[in-house]
Amino acid sequence: MMLSQTIQTDAIRDFAVAVSDGLRKVGQRELPSVYLYDELGTALFEAITLLPEYGLTRAEERLLRRRAGDMLDSLPPPVAVVELGSGSGRKTRWILEALAVREPIAYFPIDISASALVKCHQELGSLGAISIVGLEKSYLEGLQEAAARRRPDQTLLVLFLGSTIGNFDPPAAEKFLSDLRRHLKPGDALLLGADLEKSVGDMLLAYDDPAGVTAAFNLNLLARINRELGGNFVLRNFEHHVRYQTTDRRIEMHLRSKRTHTVSIRAAEFACTLKEGETIWTEACHKFRVEEIPGLARRTGFRCEAQWIDPEWTFAENLLIVS
Ligand code: AVJ
Repeated sequence: MMLSQTIQTDAIRDFAVAVSDGLRKVGQRELPSVYLYDELGTALFEAITLLPEYGLTRAEERLLRRRAGDMLDSLPPPVAVVELGSGSGRKTRWILEALAVREPIAYFPIDISASALVKCHQELGSLGAISIVGLEKSYLEGLQEAAARRRPDQTLLVLFLGSTIGNFDPPAAEKFLSDLRRHLKPGDALLLGADLEKSVGDMLLAYDDPAGVTAAFNLNLLARINRELGGNFVLRNFEHHVRYQTTDRRIEMHLRSKRTHTVSIRAAEFACTLKEGETIWTEACHKFRVEEIPGLARRTGFRCEAQWIDPEWTFAENLLIVS
């Protein structure tokens, strides 16, 4: 009890520091995108994946449903699957089912959200011969733990799906893959989902849907600051704003202040005045070119073994093998 309270307080303190650091930035205020995913934010993201304009998740699900068998072909059994940010585990089913055809399943879902791990158990627990060890940790801490628990004969297959890699700017993505590589052995693999660049109109619609679900997802970050940090954001003073930066090839999600006004956040001992039209940058989603993946793989200690692209929505599933 005492321990969990301490952890809770630490998490709140980290959140408060991240929020005040981000809002203090000169030039462009920011809030870190990881904080979009509290319980309500996660539910709103799940709703986003059902929007007709957001084809990304369905594209990846089609690829995994149709091609999971081929994806496993270059991995010698027995395989232990590690998933970074498992969420509900809906897409993972296809990989695990293909694996079950040849061997008992060993699966380590990693998520910072305990409720995601519970959902994962519910969704995948009935797959038959399956051992699920959920790790409530950050990506790299969870991977380290899974790597420590692997049997020496097991090949590790790390799943990093949904184009979450696109949340990192390119240098940070490269650093993250290099760090990940250090926990793996030659022959281990990374299945990396990457959303590809498409027409600007389609990309903007995917992040600015007419039903306003993505807007609600974005605004919830301010509501979360109000709930958890004693902020006084008036959500109606802000609007969801999305732009595509062609040179950096990324979608940016912002919250734009509709009027000049002051906001304060009690737990962060922070206050500032936002000008009319000023924005707070909340998320970046880098869009890839299919040709850039092999180079990224090589620079981070992998080789790109195969790529699968969905014919309806340009999205690539990339199989990287540790070299
Ligand atoms: C979960 C980071 C992959 O970038 O497409 C969806 C998040 N943000 N709509 C993405 C998101 C707004 C999503 N990722």
